[in-house]
Amino acid sequence: MINSIKAAAEYLSQRTNFTPEVGIILGTGLGGLVEKIDIAHSIAYAEIPGFPVSTVEGHSGRLIFGTLGGKKVVAMQGRFHYYEGYTAQQVVFPVRVMKLLGIQTLFVSNAAGSMNSTFRVGDVMIINDHINLIPNPLIGRNIDELGPRFPAMNDAYDPELIARATAIAEREGIKLQYGCYVALTGPTFETPKEYMWVKLIGGDAVGMSTAPEVIAARHMNIPVFGVSIITDTMENTSISHEEVQENGKLAEKNMTKLFTELLKTL
Ligand code: HPA
Repeated sequence: MINSIKAAAEYLSQRTNFTPEVGIILGTGLGGLVEKIDIAHSIAYAEIPGFPVSTVEGHSGRLIFGTLGGKKVVAMQGRFHYYEGYTAQQVVFPVRVMKLLGIQTLFVSNAAGSMNSTFRVGDVMIINDHINLIPNPLIGRNIDELGPRFPAMNDAYDPELIARATAIAEREGIKLQYGCYVALTGPTFETPKEYMWVKLIGGDAVGMSTAPEVIAARHMNIPVFGVSIITDTMENTSISHEEVQENGKLAEKNMTKLFTELLKTL
């Protein structure tokens, strides 16, 4: 595993000669942030040795190297989901490659359903905790070169980055919510009772991604900033993938602004 991670990183380093400071993972319908990046290199996942290939509509599957908010970034336009049939280790492969490329911070985003009655479609929720119900990507022999066998997850979402994002949102007039993201495997959306369950266990938003990548990043001691874009709520459980993509657009501008301004503070 570590050898294929190193091989992908070496391939990308040689091809781009670019050392990113921040990694960004873009969720469903949120790839538009890429338009704001001053792009130096854009590489299809299919070209990168060892990389899985994204199969879901709305995930175009490219690694974008460039500058945003004055920082050198590498952005994943499209991520890998457990429900696509990848192993949990394949899902986090790109995050590990990004670490070897040099990232010191990870930004993640996703589209999510909301169980919190104070949230509205189009809200940006800063993730302050998660409950991971997707198989843990660290199961198996530990890769000691990357991190410890038993990594702590108490500060999975960096409090300092959350504080800075809060200040930015106040300054820019961006409405924010805060909450716990529950990661389920999908690909089914929740039944009404499943929605009640994820609410009962303490979740504010639910989706099918993010927690595995965050676990892999924290294993490697990378600080994480994460947001969920609320695309539907438990009051309307008959959501479709198309609606998720459409509703993601409502908050994309706010998320892009937040990420860009936060990058400037790093
Ligand atoms: N549930 C799970 N995943 C999602 C949802 C949802 O309601 N909305 C967007 N992704």
